[in-house]
Amino acid sequence: MSAEVDLNGDLVLRDLRKEFGDFVAVDSINLTIPQGSFFALLGPSGCGKTTTLRMIAGLETPTSGHVLVGSQDITHTKPHQRPVNTVFQSYALFPHMDIFENVAFGLRRRGAGNVDKQVMETLELVQLAHLARRKPGQLSGGQQQRIALARAIVNRPAVLLLDEPLGALDLKLRRQMQIELKRIQTEVGLTFVHVTHDQEEAMSMADTIAVMNLGVVEQLGSPLDLYERPATHYVANFLGQSNTFDGTITSRDGEFARLTCAEGEFSVASAQQSGAMAMGVRPEKMEIAETTGHTVPANANQVRGTVTDAAFTGVSTQYVVRLRSGREISVFEQNLLFGKRALVGDEVTLYWDARHSFALPPSPVSTAQTDDSVGGA
Ligand SMILES: Nc1ncnc2c1ncn2[C@@H]1O[C@H](COP(=O)(O)OP(=O)(O)OP(=O)(O)O)[C@@H](O)[C@H]1O
Ligand SMILES: [Mg+2]
Repeated sequence: MSAEVDLNGDLVLRDLRKEFGDFVAVDSINLTIPQGSFFALLGPSGCGKTTTLRMIAGLETPTSGHVLVGSQDITHTKPHQRPVNTVFQSYALFPHMDIFENVAFGLRRRGAGNVDKQVMETLELVQLAHLARRKPGQLSGGQQQRIALARAIVNRPAVLLLDEPLGALDLKLRRQMQIELKRIQTEVGLTFVHVTHDQEEAMSMADTIAVMNLGVVEQLGSPLDLYERPATHYVANFLGQSNTFDGTITSRDGEFARLTCAEGEFSVASAQQSGAMAMGVRPEKMEIAETTGHTVPANANQVRGTVTDAAFTGVSTQYVVRLRSGREISVFEQNLLFGKRALVGDEVTLYWDARHSFALPPSPVSTAQTDDSVGGA
């Protein structure tokens, strides 16, 4: 490892920017990725995820800004001298070499000692030691993916970059590999930066997620934070579904603002004192009084509407309810064997605990990107 910058610490992106001609692919982002954490860059196609990774890896020169590991600025360090390894979506294993040699490649090139031991330990980590003498062409997609991972991990980089590494796998294998990846990251304690446009993948694996849109980081937080307290309409709808209501603050009650909207009056925790704002609530936080059989609690938010669609999905029933204002919102209700179901055409009262509402800025004129490949869950 003599020529390499062998150091530890947080990965820091400082005002990191990439322009291609007059197009801004990455717009001066600032991020600190704690050492040893599992970090996800989540966003739709074209938002700048790969470009960001490539600048960290040294495969793309930033237009401006810096990449640091610990206190060391590696912005101008050659790719192979960075304490960074990358696993791409296409695994690019060497087809003529067996699995053992594929994993040993980086160690041999550096003249590292103890190659046998390091390779076999890493193959055990990905649970493929028994296939060490096979060629890549004799492995399944998921197995090849694990070898690609082993080949990167064996070098013990401070930072491992993963660019949609599970993109080529079918759904079941993908879920399996997500669990594997998370286990491996916990075991080896390296910093993982995982790029994906799959919100479920990011939520289930990462300690921290940066949600990207149009070259900027819209919000940074734990999966729970981002889901329960999205700060923008974009985040509220990219991670799961949200019903949002625009209104004006007409009074306050402690930490809650009272919002007057076209659909009714609602309470939402907010520090904002007056003016226009919006409120969001997740479909699964809403209840239908007619099916739960409960009376609406005194300080719950509530609204009346008509069921226009009811889809039974097994885990839940997903209702579409048209409100008096004419707009339609989603309500997910858990399926309990003896529960009553609402039918299309039923008049219903929806209610939810005001603490489940989250504050948002007034609805923007939509600038968010859309991505057809990101379907609703
Ligand atoms: N070499 C290049 N020259 C010009 N434009 C580029 C170049 N590389 C990327 N871009 C543009 O920069 C933007 C960001 O690209 P990037 O590959 O980072 O997106 P991404 O978030 O990884 O998307 P995906 O999920 O589709 O992989 C895109 O609009 C892309 O067309
Ligand atoms: Mg990409």
